Amino acid sequence: MKYETIHGIQIPKIGFGTWRIGGESIADSSLDEKSLQALHSALEVGYTHFDTAEFYAQGHAEELLGKAVQESNIQREKLFITSKVWPGHLCYDAVLKACNSSLRRLKMETLDLYLIHWPNKLIKLEETFKALNQLVCEGKVKHVGVSNFNLKDLKKSIELSETPLLTNQVPYSLPENKYVKNGVVDFCKQNDILVTAYTPVNFRNMKVNTTLKAIAEAHEATSFQIALAWLTNQPRVITIPMSFDPQHQKENLDAADIELTAEETQTLNQLYKR
Ligand SMILES: NC(=O)c1ccc[n+]([C@@H]2O[C@H](COP(=O)([O-])OP(=O)(O)OC[C@H]3O[C@@H](n4cnc5c(N)ncnc54)[C@H](OP(=O)(O)O)[C@@H]3O)[C@@H](O)[C@H]2O)c1
Repeated sequence: MKYETIHGIQIPKIGFGTWRIGGESIADSSLDEKSLQALHSALEVGYTHFDTAEFYAQGHAEELLGKAVQESNIQREKLFITSKVWPGHLCYDAVLKACNSSLRRLKMETLDLYLIHWPNKLIKLEETFKALNQLVCEGKVKHVGVSNFNLKDLKKSIELSETPLLTNQVPYSLPENKYVKNGVVDFCKQNDILVTAYTPVNFRNMKVNTTLKAIAEAHEATSFQIALAWLTNQPRVITIPMSFDPQHQKENLDAADIELTAEETQTLNQLYKR
Protein backbone atom coordinates (compact mmCIF):
# COMPACT_ATOMS: atom_id res chain seq x y z
CA MET A 1 0.00 0.00 0.00
CA LYS A 2 1.19 3.50 -0.79
CA TYR A 3 0.60 6.32 1.68
CA GLU A 4 0.34 10.08 1.62
CA THR A 5 2.46 11.67 4.30
CA ILE A 6 0.99 14.99 5.31
CA HIS A 7 1.24 17.13 8.45
CA GLY A 8 3.11 14.32 10.20
CA ILE A 9 0.60 11.58 9.52
CA GLN A 10 0.45 8.73 7.02
CA ILE A 11 -2.84 8.05 5.25
CA PRO A 12 -3.32 5.09 2.91
CA LYS A 13 -3.85 6.12 -0.71
CA ILE A 14 -6.89 3.80 -0.80
CA GLY A 15 -9.53 3.76 1.90
CA PHE A 16 -12.93 2.10 2.16
CA GLY A 17 -16.19 4.01 1.59
CA THR A 18 -19.29 3.09 3.59
CA TRP A 19 -22.17 4.55 1.56
CA ARG A 20 -24.73 1.68 1.19
CA ILE A 21 -23.47 0.00 4.40
CA GLY A 22 -26.62 -0.53 6.49
CA GLY A 23 -28.81 1.22 3.90
CA GLU A 24 -28.59 4.39 1.85
CA SER A 25 -30.33 7.53 3.11
CA ILE A 26 -32.56 5.34 5.31
CA ALA A 27 -31.38 2.61 7.71
CA ASP A 28 -32.25 -0.87 6.46
CA SER A 29 -31.57 -3.60 9.02
CA SER A 30 -32.17 -6.30 6.40
CA LEU A 31 -28.73 -5.31 5.05
CA ASP A 32 -26.92 -5.76 8.40
CA GLU A 33 -25.51 -9.21 7.72
CA LYS A 34 -24.30 -8.32 4.21
CA SER A 35 -22.89 -5.00 5.50
CA LEU A 36 -21.03 -6.56 8.43
CA GLN A 37 -19.59 -9.21 6.12
CA ALA A 38 -18.34 -6.47 3.79
CA LEU A 39 -16.75 -4.54 6.68
CA HIS A 40 -15.11 -7.66 8.10
CA SER A 41 -13.67 -8.67 4.75
CA ALA A 42 -12.43 -5.09 4.19
CA LEU A 43 -10.63 -5.21 7.56
CA GLU A 44 -9.26 -8.66 6.76
CA VAL A 45 -7.86 -7.72 3.34
CA GLY A 46 -6.09 -4.80 4.98
CA TYR A 47 -8.09 -1.59 4.72
CA THR A 48 -7.18 0.75 7.57
CA HIS A 49 -8.89 3.97 6.42
CA PHE A 50 -12.70 3.97 6.61
CA ASP A 51 -14.90 6.81 5.42
CA THR A 52 -18.34 7.18 6.95
CA ALA A 53 -20.89 9.90 7.84
CA GLU A 54 -23.77 10.55 10.19
CA PHE A 55 -25.97 10.76 7.07
CA TYR A 56 -25.19 7.25 5.83
CA ALA A 57 -28.16 5.04 6.66
CA GLN A 58 -29.18 7.59 9.33
CA GLY A 59 -26.11 6.77 11.43
CA HIS A 60 -26.47 3.03 11.00
CA ALA A 61 -23.33 2.82 8.80
CA GLU A 62 -21.36 4.24 11.75
CA GLU A 63 -22.97 1.72 14.12
CA LEU A 64 -22.06 -1.21 11.88
CA LEU A 65 -18.52 0.08 11.34
CA GLY A 66 -18.07 0.41 15.11
CA LYS A 67 -19.39 -3.11 15.62
CA ALA A 68 -17.13 -4.60 12.94
CA VAL A 69 -14.05 -2.85 14.37
CA GLN A 70 -14.84 -4.11 17.88
CA GLU A 71 -15.43 -7.67 16.65
CA SER A 72 -12.20 -7.63 14.64
CA ASN A 73 -10.03 -6.94 17.71
CA ILE A 74 -7.88 -4.64 15.56
CA GLN A 75 -6.33 -1.93 17.72
CA ARG A 76 -8.14 1.38 17.25
CA GLU A 77 -4.78 3.19 16.78
CA LYS A 78 -4.09 1.11 13.67
CA LEU A 79 -7.15 2.58 11.94
CA PHE A 80 -7.91 5.97 10.41
CA ILE A 81 -11.61 6.77 10.80
CA THR A 82 -13.29 9.65 8.98
CA SER A 83 -16.85 10.81 9.62
CA LYS A 84 -18.84 13.82 8.46
CA VAL A 85 -21.32 16.28 9.91
CA TRP A 86 -24.46 16.87 7.84
CA PRO A 87 -25.20 20.44 6.56
CA GLY A 88 -28.30 20.67 8.75
CA HIS A 89 -26.05 20.35 11.83
CA LEU A 90 -23.53 23.13 11.20
CA CYS A 91 -24.56 25.51 14.03
CA TYR A 92 -22.08 25.51 16.93
CA ASP A 93 -24.15 23.37 19.35
CA ALA A 94 -25.33 21.03 16.61
CA VAL A 95 -21.77 20.24 15.46
CA LEU A 96 -20.74 19.31 19.01
CA LYS A 97 -23.84 17.16 19.42
CA ALA A 98 -23.43 15.50 16.00
CA CYS A 99 -19.80 14.61 16.74
CA ASN A 100 -20.68 13.11 20.12
CA SER A 101 -23.44 11.05 18.48
CA SER A 102 -21.06 9.79 15.76
CA LEU A 103 -18.50 8.79 18.42
CA ARG A 104 -21.17 6.99 20.43
CA ARG A 105 -22.41 5.06 17.38
CA LEU A 106 -18.84 4.18 16.38
CA LYS A 107 -18.01 3.24 20.00
CA MET A 108 -14.84 5.29 19.69
CA GLU A 109 -13.33 8.09 21.75
CA THR A 110 -11.88 10.02 18.87
CA LEU A 111 -12.26 10.56 15.14
CA ASP A 112 -9.11 10.80 13.03
CA LEU A 113 -10.85 13.14 10.61
CA TYR A 114 -14.12 15.05 10.80
CA LEU A 115 -15.51 16.70 7.68
CA ILE A 116 -18.24 19.19 6.89
CA HIS A 117 -20.20 16.96 4.49
CA TRP A 118 -21.62 19.78 2.32
CA PRO A 119 -21.54 23.56 2.72
CA ASN A 120 -24.65 25.32 4.03
CA LYS A 121 -25.01 28.94 2.93
CA LEU A 122 -27.46 29.63 5.77
CA ILE A 123 -24.90 29.01 8.53
CA LYS A 124 -21.71 31.02 8.86
CA LEU A 125 -18.56 28.95 8.47
CA GLU A 126 -17.12 30.89 11.43
CA GLU A 127 -19.71 29.27 13.68
CA THR A 128 -19.05 25.76 12.37
CA PHE A 129 -15.28 26.12 12.69
CA LYS A 130 -15.62 27.45 16.24
CA ALA A 131 -17.09 24.05 17.11
CA LEU A 132 -14.64 22.05 14.95
CA ASN A 133 -11.66 23.84 16.53
CA GLN A 134 -13.09 23.10 19.96
CA LEU A 135 -13.48 19.41 19.11
CA VAL A 136 -9.80 19.29 18.13
CA CYS A 137 -8.83 21.03 21.42
CA GLU A 138 -10.91 18.52 23.38
CA GLY A 139 -9.22 15.61 21.56
CA LYS A 140 -12.49 14.28 20.14
CA VAL A 141 -11.26 14.96 16.61
CA LYS A 142 -7.65 14.77 15.43
CA HIS A 143 -7.99 16.54 12.08
CA VAL A 144 -10.67 18.52 10.29
CA GLY A 145 -11.58 18.90 6.66
CA VAL A 146 -14.41 19.67 4.25
CA SER A 147 -16.30 17.95 1.46
CA ASN A 148 -17.91 19.30 -1.72
CA PHE A 149 -16.40 22.75 -1.08
CA ASN A 150 -15.68 25.19 -3.91
CA LEU A 151 -12.47 27.22 -3.96
CA LYS A 152 -13.93 30.24 -2.15
CA ASP A 153 -15.32 28.24 0.77
CA LEU A 154 -12.21 26.08 0.86
CA LYS A 155 -9.95 29.13 1.22
CA LYS A 156 -12.19 30.52 3.95
CA SER A 157 -12.07 27.18 5.78
CA ILE A 158 -8.27 27.22 5.69
CA GLU A 159 -8.34 30.64 7.39
CA LEU A 160 -10.84 29.53 10.03
CA SER A 161 -9.28 26.21 10.97
CA GLU A 162 -6.78 26.47 13.82
CA THR A 163 -5.12 23.25 12.60
CA PRO A 164 -4.11 22.51 9.01
CA LEU A 165 -7.17 21.57 6.94
CA LEU A 166 -6.47 17.97 5.95
CA THR A 167 -8.72 17.36 2.94
CA ASN A 168 -11.47 18.39 0.61
CA GLN A 169 -13.45 15.25 -0.31
CA VAL A 170 -14.91 15.70 -3.80
CA PRO A 171 -16.19 13.66 -6.74
CA TYR A 172 -13.14 12.96 -8.90
CA SER A 173 -12.56 10.16 -11.41
CA LEU A 174 -11.54 9.62 -15.04
CA PRO A 175 -14.75 11.17 -16.42
CA GLU A 176 -15.59 13.46 -13.47
CA ASN A 177 -13.60 16.67 -13.62
CA LYS A 178 -15.87 19.35 -12.13
CA TYR A 179 -13.38 20.00 -9.33
CA VAL A 180 -10.49 20.17 -11.79
CA LYS A 181 -12.35 22.77 -13.82
CA ASN A 182 -13.24 24.87 -10.78
CA GLY A 183 -9.60 24.92 -9.65
CA VAL A 184 -10.01 22.95 -6.42
CA VAL A 185 -7.86 19.95 -7.37
CA ASP A 186 -4.84 22.04 -8.40
CA PHE A 187 -5.21 24.37 -5.42
CA CYS A 188 -5.22 21.40 -3.02
CA LYS A 189 -2.17 19.81 -4.67
CA GLN A 190 -0.25 23.08 -4.40
CA ASN A 191 -1.27 23.82 -0.81
CA ASP A 192 -0.73 20.49 0.96
CA ILE A 193 -4.41 19.60 1.20
CA LEU A 194 -5.46 16.07 0.30
CA VAL A 195 -8.01 15.58 -2.44
CA THR A 196 -10.11 12.61 -1.33
CA ALA A 197 -11.69 11.37 -4.55
CA TYR A 198 -15.15 9.92 -4.01
CA THR A 199 -17.18 7.75 -6.42
CA PRO A 200 -13.92 6.83 -8.17
CA VAL A 201 -15.15 3.80 -10.13
CA ASN A 202 -18.91 4.20 -10.44
CA PHE A 203 -19.16 5.47 -14.00
CA ARG A 204 -20.61 4.14 -17.23
CA ASN A 205 -18.56 2.74 -20.13
CA MET A 206 -15.60 1.80 -17.95
CA LYS A 207 -15.88 -1.91 -18.67
CA VAL A 208 -16.23 -1.46 -22.43
CA ASN A 209 -13.76 1.37 -22.97
CA THR A 210 -11.17 -0.23 -25.24
CA THR A 211 -8.31 2.14 -24.31
CA LEU A 212 -8.87 1.52 -20.62
CA LYS A 213 -9.06 -2.23 -21.26
CA ALA A 214 -5.76 -2.19 -23.20
CA ILE A 215 -3.93 -0.35 -20.39
CA ALA A 216 -5.49 -2.76 -17.88
CA GLU A 217 -4.28 -5.78 -19.85
CA ALA A 218 -0.75 -4.35 -20.00
CA HIS A 219 -0.73 -4.30 -16.18
CA GLU A 220 -2.62 -7.60 -15.78
CA ALA A 221 -5.18 -5.52 -13.95
CA THR A 222 -8.87 -4.64 -14.33
CA SER A 223 -10.25 -1.39 -15.72
CA PHE A 224 -11.46 -0.56 -12.19
CA GLN A 225 -7.91 -0.87 -10.89
CA ILE A 226 -6.56 1.40 -13.62
CA ALA A 227 -9.23 4.02 -12.84
CA LEU A 228 -8.05 3.92 -9.19
CA ALA A 229 -4.34 3.87 -10.08
CA TRP A 230 -4.85 6.97 -12.22
CA LEU A 231 -5.97 8.71 -9.02
CA THR A 232 -3.39 7.25 -6.64
CA ASN A 233 -0.53 8.05 -9.04
CA GLN A 234 -1.33 11.74 -8.47
CA PRO A 235 0.43 13.44 -5.56
CA ARG A 236 -1.89 14.58 -2.75
CA VAL A 237 -4.79 12.46 -4.10
CA ILE A 238 -6.29 9.58 -2.12
CA THR A 239 -9.51 7.70 -2.83
CA ILE A 240 -12.22 5.69 -1.05
CA PRO A 241 -13.92 3.11 -3.30
CA MET A 242 -16.70 0.98 -1.82
CA SER A 243 -17.47 -2.64 -2.60
CA PHE A 244 -19.47 -5.42 -0.97
CA ASP A 245 -17.43 -7.99 -2.89
CA PRO A 246 -14.23 -9.25 -1.12
CA GLN A 247 -12.51 -9.85 -4.47
CA HIS A 248 -13.28 -6.29 -5.63
CA GLN A 249 -12.17 -4.95 -2.23
CA LYS A 250 -8.79 -6.64 -2.61
CA GLU A 251 -8.39 -5.55 -6.23
CA ASN A 252 -9.15 -1.97 -5.22
CA LEU A 253 -6.62 -2.03 -2.40
CA ASP A 254 -3.95 -3.53 -4.68
CA ALA A 255 -4.56 -0.82 -7.30
CA ALA A 256 -2.49 1.63 -5.26
CA ASP A 257 0.63 -0.38 -6.16
CA ILE A 258 0.13 -0.01 -9.93
CA GLU A 259 2.62 2.44 -11.47
CA LEU A 260 1.35 3.98 -14.70
CA THR A 261 3.84 5.21 -17.31
CA ALA A 262 3.85 8.89 -18.30
CA GLU A 263 2.39 7.88 -21.67
CA GLU A 264 -0.44 5.89 -20.06
CA THR A 265 -1.22 8.77 -17.72
CA GLN A 266 -1.35 11.14 -20.67
CA THR A 267 -3.69 8.78 -22.55
CA LEU A 268 -5.96 8.45 -19.51
CA ASN A 269 -5.99 12.23 -19.00
CA GLN A 270 -7.43 12.59 -22.53
CA LEU A 271 -9.72 9.55 -22.35
CA TYR A 272 -12.96 11.29 -21.48
CA LYS A 273 -12.11 14.54 -23.31
CA ARG A 274 -11.29 16.40 -20.15
N1 LIG B 1 -18.61 13.29 0.48
C1 LIG B 1 -19.63 12.96 -0.29
O1 LIG B 1 -20.55 13.75 -0.55
C2 LIG B 1 -19.67 11.56 -0.87
C3 LIG B 1 -20.57 11.27 -1.91
C4 LIG B 1 -20.55 9.97 -2.45
C5 LIG B 1 -19.68 9.00 -1.93
N2 LIG B 1 -18.84 9.33 -0.89
C6 LIG B 1 -17.93 8.31 -0.31
O2 LIG B 1 -17.18 7.71 -1.36
C7 LIG B 1 -17.34 6.28 -1.29
C8 LIG B 1 -17.21 5.67 -2.68
O3 LIG B 1 -18.13 6.23 -3.58
P1 LIG B 1 -19.38 5.40 -4.14
O4 LIG B 1 -19.73 4.33 -3.17
O5 LIG B 1 -20.39 6.43 -4.52
O6 LIG B 1 -18.85 4.81 -5.53
P2 LIG B 1 -17.64 3.85 -5.98
O7 LIG B 1 -16.88 3.35 -4.83
O8 LIG B 1 -16.91 4.58 -7.06
O9 LIG B 1 -18.43 2.67 -6.71
C9 LIG B 1 -19.14 1.69 -6.02
C10 LIG B 1 -19.70 0.72 -7.07
O10 LIG B 1 -18.63 0.18 -7.84
C11 LIG B 1 -18.61 -1.25 -7.74
N3 LIG B 1 -17.21 -1.64 -7.63
C12 LIG B 1 -16.30 -1.19 -6.71
N4 LIG B 1 -15.09 -1.74 -6.92
C13 LIG B 1 -15.24 -2.58 -8.00
C14 LIG B 1 -14.35 -3.44 -8.69
N5 LIG B 1 -13.07 -3.55 -8.33
N6 LIG B 1 -14.82 -4.16 -9.74
C15 LIG B 1 -16.12 -4.05 -10.11
N7 LIG B 1 -17.03 -3.25 -9.49
C16 LIG B 1 -16.57 -2.51 -8.43
C17 LIG B 1 -19.42 -1.60 -6.51
O11 LIG B 1 -20.09 -2.82 -6.70
P3 LIG B 1 -19.74 -4.15 -5.83
O12 LIG B 1 -20.22 -3.87 -4.44
O13 LIG B 1 -20.50 -5.21 -6.53
O14 LIG B 1 -18.26 -4.34 -5.92
C18 LIG B 1 -20.43 -0.44 -6.47
O15 LIG B 1 -21.52 -0.72 -7.33
C19 LIG B 1 -18.72 6.11 -0.63
O16 LIG B 1 -18.91 4.81 -0.14
C20 LIG B 1 -18.66 7.19 0.43
O17 LIG B 1 -17.91 6.74 1.55
C21 LIG B 1 -18.81 10.59 -0.38
